[in-house]
Amino acid sequence: MNSSRLTAEINHLAHFSSHPAPAVTRVLFSPEDFAARTWLIDLATDAGFFIRSDAVGNLFITWLGSDPSLPAVATGSHIDAIPNAGKYDGVVGVLGALEAMRSLRESGHQPVRSIELIMFTAEEPTRFGIGCLGSRLLAGTTSPDQAHALRDPNGRSLDDLRPSSDPLSSVLLQPGHYSAFLELHIEQGPHLDASGIDIGIVEKIAAPAAFRLTLTGTGGHAGAVLMPDRHDAFLAAAEIALAVESSALNSSSPDTVGTVGKVEVRPGAINSIPNHALIEIDFRDTDLTTRDQAIALIQSTAEAICQRRGVSLLWQHINADPPATCAPHLVTLIESATTTLGYSQQRMISRAYHDSLFMARICPTCMIFIPCDKGYSHRPDEYSSPEAIAKGTLVLAESLRQLSAA
Ligand code: GLV
Ligand code: MN
Ligand code: MN
Repeated sequence: MNSSRLTAEINHLAHFSSHPAPAVTRVLFSPEDFAARTWLIDLATDAGFFIRSDAVGNLFITWLGSDPSLPAVATGSHIDAIPNAGKYDGVVGVLGALEAMRSLRESGHQPVRSIELIMFTAEEPTRFGIGCLGSRLLAGTTSPDQAHALRDPNGRSLDDLRPSSDPLSSVLLQPGHYSAFLELHIEQGPHLDASGIDIGIVEKIAAPAAFRLTLTGTGGHAGAVLMPDRHDAFLAAAEIALAVESSALNSSSPDTVGTVGKVEVRPGAINSIPNHALIEIDFRDTDLTTRDQAIALIQSTAEAICQRRGVSLLWQHINADPPATCAPHLVTLIESATTTLGYSQQRMISRAYHDSLFMARICPTCMIFIPCDKGYSHRPDEYSSPEAIAKGTLVLAESLRQLSAA
C-alpha cells in the first residue's frame, strides 16, 4: 500500500473544517461536509471506482467483482466530525478502505464478489441528536417516519437538508445484501497504545443510550427572589447530572459510563434565575441489564429532584440500542490476516459506538482497531501514526482480499 498517499489524503480531508487546525469540525450537510463529500467522490472517481449515493446521503464506492450477482463485501466508516474533533475518527476507515481497494487492485487482485466502501451519513449525533443515522436507516432500526420528524437545533428538517428527493424508504437494505461488513477505526481508548499492540479485533460493541431532558422552572430577579422561593431549572439539571455520575459509578458493571455533554440554560443572563434547562445524557454499557438498571435509577432520581424543587421535567428518549456481537468467523479471519502480516493483536470490546453496531443487524460484521496516541479522541490532539494506520489498512486489505475471493 501507499502510506504516504494515504497520509496526504487524511491531512487534506482535515482542511474541510469549520474550525481552524488542528481542530476539525465537520457537521452533517454543512458547507464543509458537502465540500469533503465532493472531494471524496472525485478521489474515488479518479481511482476508477463506481459511485452512487442514497436518499440520506450514504455514499457507496464500488469495485465491481467478476460475479456482481453475489452479495458484496462491504467496508467503511464516516467522515463527519463532532465540534472540535481530530482528523482520524471515522476518516481512517473511509480513506484507509479506499487505499486498501486501490492497493489490492494495483497488486493484481481481481475480486469475485464486489467490494463496496460505504461512507455513512451522520455517524455523529451533532446535527440531529441521533448518531449513526445513515446506518440506522440502512438497517431499518430507524424508520423513515422517525427520520422525517428529525429537526436540527435551528428547526431545519432532514428533508430540508438532504441532497436527494428520493424517498427515505429506499435506503433500507435487505438482510443478505452484503456478505460481510468490516470497519477499520482508531481505538478511541488507551489500551492498544499503552500495551504496544498493533491491532485490536473487536468482538463486541457496547450498547449506547441517549436521553433529552427539558426542565421548566420559574424565572425571576437574581437579587430579589429569596432562596426558599426559587424553582431554578438549572439547579435541578445540575443535580440530575450528578445523579448520572453516581449511577454510573455505583453500577455493578465496570463498563457503565454516563455523560452529560450538552447543557442549555435560559434565559442565560447572570442576574436572572434560569427558568429553562435542557440536558442530554449519553449512557452506555457492555451489559444491557446493568445499563438499563442504572438508567431506571437516574429517571426515578430525576423525577424526585424535580418534584422537590418544583420544576417540571420532560424526559425524551433519543435511543437505547442493544450491544452488537461481531461475527466469530470474521474475528478469526482478521486474526489470521494479522498473523500473516506479522503484527501483534488482541481481541477487544468497542466502548464507542460505530456504524458497525447497526450493520451487525443485517450482515456478519467485525471491526479492526488501531492504536491512537494515549487513546485521545473527540479532541483536536487525536493522533494515529502513519505506521499504525498502514498496519490497519493492510489487515483490512488482506481481509477484503480473502472475503472477496469467492
Ligand atoms: C461515536 O462517536 C461515539 O460517540 O461513540
Ligand atoms: Mn466520533
Ligand atoms: Mn467514529
